[in-house]
Amino acid sequence: MSGITLAAYLRDAQRAHGRLPDDLIQTLEITATTCERISAALQRGALAGILGMAGSENVQGEDQKKLDVIANDMLLDAHASGGHLAGMASEEMDDPFPIPDGVSRGRYLLLFDPLDGSSNIDINALVGTIFSVLVTDPAADTTQVTPFLQPGTAQVAAGYAVYGPATQLVLTLGHGVDAFTLDPEQGAFILTSEGMRIPEATQEFAINMSNQRHWEAPVQRYVAELLAGKTGVRGKDFNMRWVAAMVADIHRILTRGGIFLYPLDSKTAAKGGKLRLMYEANPMAWLIEQAGGAASTGRERILDLAPSGLHQRVAVILGAREEVERVAGYHAS
Ligand code: F6P
Repeated sequence: MSGITLAAYLRDAQRAHGRLPDDLIQTLEITATTCERISAALQRGALAGILGMAGSENVQGEDQKKLDVIANDMLLDAHASGGHLAGMASEEMDDPFPIPDGVSRGRYLLLFDPLDGSSNIDINALVGTIFSVLVTDPAADTTQVTPFLQPGTAQVAAGYAVYGPATQLVLTLGHGVDAFTLDPEQGAFILTSEGMRIPEATQEFAINMSNQRHWEAPVQRYVAELLAGKTGVRGKDFNMRWVAAMVADIHRILTRGGIFLYPLDSKTAAKGGKLRLMYEANPMAWLIEQAGGAASTGRERILDLAPSGLHQRVAVILGAREEVERVAGYHAS
């Protein structure tokens, strides 16, 4: 155990890779502290009467859980008056959240999915918070979506918290991927994995198999080959895992390898896919690339996509580089 806190790490990163602006440090520290509070709220769950539905729908037309709304409000409240952000956008809100009048503004934009995989809450299974940080002109009109519509390559920080048996925070600033574990006694995230790398060889895949009949031919072919195992062209058996919380599936892949697919299918094609580019695909794609993996829609690199909307959805295929390239190759052919 290194004993290095997130706060010390951010100051060290500043020494190693050039000055990290104070506003960016503040953005990350406040996000981490809020994740700690979300983790505490999740632990109280039923005791605090905060399980179940909020009785509302988000912009995606999905039912909101009480904890979706609570986590969203915690992030908004924690960041609104810090003076470090120019604006925020959340998967749970139709429009960007303007920094209140009279509060000084910084130049960072924070985009987040406050509680990813929230259908897992009521079964006491893994959920997470995903975030992405962009930069803009402090004078930009952040009540509008335009300043937020930047490609994933423009991110200056991205990460997630995963709320499991332990709460962990995984972060990239563009110099690899490091993971921190919450020490509840200290109330601090402690560096526990440095330079996470996705193993090149994999025998594990993650996909919602119940959508099989809706997939396109390249994904049908790829998964059929995995399922054929030792007797097929791959010549080895593959295992399948699906947590139904992207954050948890990606955490497994960063930790022990594999590939994750939420491909385009006939159910979601009209919307462009299932997962959201700005809150899920971009931050996860950058983390995966920073750990030596690849991230594609099957047709293009995710990080190169020019966003057309704040709540745009995309196909997502990411994880071990060779596997992702194989699926992209099947799309190309
Ligand atoms: O964003 C929504 C999400 O919950 C992801 O976290 C997860 O990977 C996916 O949807 C689960 O989808 P499904 O409901 O098809 O299993």
